Amino acid sequence: MIIETLRLRDFRNYAQFEMKPHPGVNLLFGQNGSGKTNLLEAVHYCALGRSHRTAQDMEVVRKGAEAAACGVTVKTAGGTREIALRLTPGEGKHKQVFVDRKRAARLASLMGQVQCVMFSPEDLQLIKEGPSERRAFLDMMLSQLSPSYFVALQQYRKALDQRNAILRDCRRFGRPLPAMTEDFERQMARAASAILPTRRKAAERLERIAAEKYAAISGKTAEALGLRYQPCLPEAAETEDAQEIERAFLKACRSAREEDLRRGTSSFGAHREDLLFTLMGREMKLFASQGQIRTAVLSVKLAQMEIDREESGECPVLLLDDVMSELDRPRRTHLLREITGAQTFVTCTDESDLDGCEDRRVYYVSQSREGLAEVREVRAGEAVPEESLEEPDFS
Ligand SMILES: Nc1ncnc2c1ncn2[C@@H]1O[C@H](COP(=O)(O)OP(=O)(O)OP(=O)(O)O)[C@@H](O)[C@H]1O
Ligand SMILES: [Mg+2]
Repeated sequence: MIIETLRLRDFRNYAQFEMKPHPGVNLLFGQNGSGKTNLLEAVHYCALGRSHRTAQDMEVVRKGAEAAACGVTVKTAGGTREIALRLTPGEGKHKQVFVDRKRAARLASLMGQVQCVMFSPEDLQLIKEGPSERRAFLDMMLSQLSPSYFVALQQYRKALDQRNAILRDCRRFGRPLPAMTEDFERQMARAASAILPTRRKAAERLERIAAEKYAAISGKTAEALGLRYQPCLPEAAETEDAQEIERAFLKACRSAREEDLRRGTSSFGAHREDLLFTLMGREMKLFASQGQIRTAVLSVKLAQMEIDREESGECPVLLLDDVMSELDRPRRTHLLREITGAQTFVTCTDESDLDGCEDRRVYYVSQSREGLAEVREVRAGEAVPEESLEEPDFS
């Protein structure tokens, strides 16, 4: 999969921007705060309809503008597609998707059109933080692969929000649960019957591939990486029978009602699942070193790439945000080997971070006095712009 054109309008510090990226590696370098990550974020939006670093769409609208837009022309074996997203926070339906210039009715139409895998320093949170980070990772990976998974997830969340609103109200006013609670539970159960088995199978596949990658990167076969899926319905974890899952889910939901009413929120469900990272059978979060965590995250992302490739038959676009300088030589070599053949966008503050990678185009990103990003290609042999050589001023 190749992004042939990337367009931004009033997106972060870009007013109007268009680039035709290289099919190999696109190296974006420049000073801190110039707008490098913003470009990667725009690609992420085109793939998943959301940022990798904020849940607030408002934040990406350029200061002073009312709406932001980003879009890509993407080439796959199946042909060329134009995907665009318009964000108008504050308006009713604030995310609009356009496929081949026609407005799509649902955000789900975006899923699978552009596949991307993002590597960023924040990824360490995948292991260090709580279950929601790990679920988000799994959900984003699966949504890109299957629009129907994304739809099930949306339905689940909507029904869950409604059930939670009822629980909050009933707790506050000391009322019993109304009959319609059951309707929302049924909707959750139906969606869960699609979500749970998909997550379980993906976790198994991720574990198998990530463990191989981990062993190859670390060179230590004794340090076995494990990914243990923590299902909300252990008793139905092995089945793929949707009706059986639905029944078991509904039963568990009903049994949790009393407790949920006391808490004012839903204590059971797909939103409580987790994916535990283990090393030699022990939970990584509790005892792994920084280096081990970094290797585990890298391994999981490489595994995601491989699964994307197997499932869609296309190589995903890779977004590497500030990761090169954080990797030591063996990890960097591994990553560079794996990105061969994939269109890649890499940000770094130093151009030499990507030495050893031949098939690349270099862009220098800077910020104008007005605070707008400017991107210019730096051709081989051309001098690096002066200001990038300046030492940071800590005075
Ligand atoms: N909504 C917005 N409107 C205008 N400018 C914005 C907006 N959001 C962020 N910016 C600007 O974008 C810049 C940050 O861009 P970005 O995160 O891409 O930097 P970067 O080049 O990746 O920097 P670093 O090397 O520190 O990671 C900042 O100057 C910030 O002020
Ligand atoms: Mg950045």
